[in-house]
Amino acid sequence: MTNEALRVGILTSGGDAPGMNAAVRALVRSGHKSGVKIYGIRHGYEGLLNTDIYEMTAQRVSDIIHRGGTILRTARSAAMMTEEGQRKAADVVKVLKFNALVAIGGDGTFRGAFDISKQDVNVIGIPATIDLDMPCTEYSLGFDTAVNTGMDAINRLRDTSFSHERCSVVEVMGRDAGYLALWCGLTGGAEEVIFPENGGVDAEVVIQEIIKNRSLGKRNHLIVVAEGIGGSAALAKEIESKLGIESRPMILGHLQRGGSPTALDRMHGSTMGFLAMEAIVSGEKNKAVIFKEGRHKLMDLEEAINCKREYTAEMRTMHEMVKSLAV
Ligand code: F6P
Repeated sequence: MTNEALRVGILTSGGDAPGMNAAVRALVRSGHKSGVKIYGIRHGYEGLLNTDIYEMTAQRVSDIIHRGGTILRTARSAAMMTEEGQRKAADVVKVLKFNALVAIGGDGTFRGAFDISKQDVNVIGIPATIDLDMPCTEYSLGFDTAVNTGMDAINRLRDTSFSHERCSVVEVMGRDAGYLALWCGLTGGAEEVIFPENGGVDAEVVIQEIIKNRSLGKRNHLIVVAEGIGGSAALAKEIESKLGIESRPMILGHLQRGGSPTALDRMHGSTMGFLAMEAIVSGEKNKAVIFKEGRHKLMDLEEAINCKREYTAEMRTMHEMVKSLAV
């Protein structure tokens, strides 16, 4: 089969992440250079099931590299959790005569990709989630932008927290992973980060830390809480009632998922998109484009979805650093 005959569908699925557009752009532009016909699929796997597709010319991806979110739109597909849905998705790929499907997204997206791939369909995955919770890769699109958004929010809170000598309790996204919390905490200068991997800490422990840090001269405080632990409003209330230090909770929520991608997210998005298309054109099957030990590489999709998440030494060290640099 010549490159001219190749047909590739692209979808983004699950939570949107800054950098997805850079990946879509790279796939489309490099695909066109190799004579591949590219089809955008709207709303993730839902759009695949409904055949909501359109042909993507090189011009259709103009002016998107700097945009957050995903121009393809996205969705979380309940149908793809069922065998019937997975079978139907694979059938649609075959009817559309796609030689490959590129699925850009997080854990759930990769699981869907693997389920389809078992039915004689070639699927290439690109990791994209602000949570950085995919153990197959050391980078997933959106993480750096989300950390910077969190850090920026903390910078602003610091001004007001300093002025009023208050305690800010900032809850950051990350579902059940603590990477965003640790990075936002370390780069924002928090005195404690509460995250799921180490089981979190009791409010009483946080209160004792604040007392200790006050005695060392600290006048305003910053505690970062991971979404997976939650309860930032209750914690702020408890700190205020037990210590008499005015405390305010702040939940960043979806604000943290938006915004123009940082240079790092554009670099990873462009490179992963480029490598995914290169893999398709050179006949690779069912791979994930990952980032490990400072390099982008391909990993079997099956291996990628079976990697196990751990509470790493790096996370432990970051947590220790946060606390020791607090005062
Ligand atoms: O996976 C990305 C993420 O933003 C998580 O941090 C968060 O828990 C979740 O998505 C929120 O999902 P939704 O956009 O469906 O509310």
